[in-house]
Amino acid sequence: MPTLDLDFIRSQFPAFSEPSLEGWCHFENAGGSYPCKQVVDRLHHLYSSAKIQPYGLSPIQAEAGAAMDEAYERLAAYLNVGVDEVHFGPSTSQNTYVLAHALSGMWDDGDEIIVSNQDHEANAGAWRRMANMGIVVKEWQVDPETGHLDLAVLQGLITDKTRMIAFPHASNVVAETNPVAEIAKIAHAAGAICVADGVAQAPHGLPDVKALGADIYLFSLYKTWGPHLGLMTVKRELLDKMTNQSHYFNDGKPRSMLTPAGPDHAQIGAAAGIAEYMDAVYAHHFDDFDTTEPAERGRRIHDLFEAHETKLLTKLLNWLAPRDDIRMVGTSDPELRAPTVSFVPLKKKHADILDTLITHKVIGKSGDFYGVRPLEGMNIPLNPGVVRVSFVHYTTEAEIDQLIGGLKAALD
Ligand SMILES: Cc1ncc(COP(=O)(O)O)c(C=O)c1O
Repeated sequence: MPTLDLDFIRSQFPAFSEPSLEGWCHFENAGGSYPCKQVVDRLHHLYSSAKIQPYGLSPIQAEAGAAMDEAYERLAAYLNVGVDEVHFGPSTSQNTYVLAHALSGMWDDGDEIIVSNQDHEANAGAWRRMANMGIVVKEWQVDPETGHLDLAVLQGLITDKTRMIAFPHASNVVAETNPVAEIAKIAHAAGAICVADGVAQAPHGLPDVKALGADIYLFSLYKTWGPHLGLMTVKRELLDKMTNQSHYFNDGKPRSMLTPAGPDHAQIGAAAGIAEYMDAVYAHHFDDFDTTEPAERGRRIHDLFEAHETKLLTKLLNWLAPRDDIRMVGTSDPELRAPTVSFVPLKKKHADILDTLITHKVIGKSGDFYGVRPLEGMNIPLNPGVVRVSFVHYTTEAEIDQLIGGLKAALD
């Protein structure tokens, strides 16, 4: 496998040549990543030249519509799903809200769903509120020490009434990567659907959703180098069983059924820039672009990003994990987790740590990150919560050194 050419990668992100950001190290990527230039250029173009209700006879309307079609097609190909299995919404929180309404008609009083307490509230609240509709909600609880989700615990919760299992591909505070494919198999064997929140995992390489087997897979494009939208994939046969959430005359139209409030057309069009960026990354690192399917390109780019991120994460965790003045959250094995690192400082105040990081031009954050339930599940006080630093593939080793320098000054 080639190694990631970081000069090339960073040349694809306008933020790295923006003078006002010079020297600053962005370690709040789990909150939102920098967008790649392909997305920025497309958004600028669509807002400048084709900001018009899409589809129609004029060339401008046609262009606006074609830009959206391109996003559906190119992202579906990378995610290895059908074009009408891709749905865009304003955010992942909004998408799960809509899904809960769309799915509820499929289930009866007394049917059961299993929801983990490792989730961001986006993949929890909408499901848990189904208790008001007579659905029995069971909680798959994390280990209070490690934040780990144990498959044996999940198995113990499954009955012949289980209809859905919802959990994160990786939690945005625990960050351990959960075995989606294995959980999907468990769900399917029980006749249940599998809903994976990939918001904290997809930014580390777009997933092959088909291989994961999740019936519903959600992630947020603004954390995956793109515009501020949520993307969800929904298996077509499942969509066909759901209740339409759009205007009545849109029933049966895959693109409309789960978008009662359709998101900004131009942003959907700009999302094709993520696939264009992936293409550029692939063409730069591999020499068989023309003969390789997007899904395979996606898998190789995923591995390329992962190898780079794991190397950097190993350095950070080797420095951070052994300290006795913090409580690390989640596993300190870099092979088993995403590079979203949370810790509880035991001797220093959060605000002081963040202030010191800023003097080192390092951007981190502290709080509960809407991961209220996982923090409660690990007995971590919500106020002030955890300090979190997170990165993606465009981060350099020099930036990790700058982060460690800032943390050293803050914690020692
Ligand atoms: C793991 C995880 N899931 C879901 C969400 C919610 O995403 P959105 O802001 O698109 O609603 C977030 C946001 O931080 C997240 O980190």
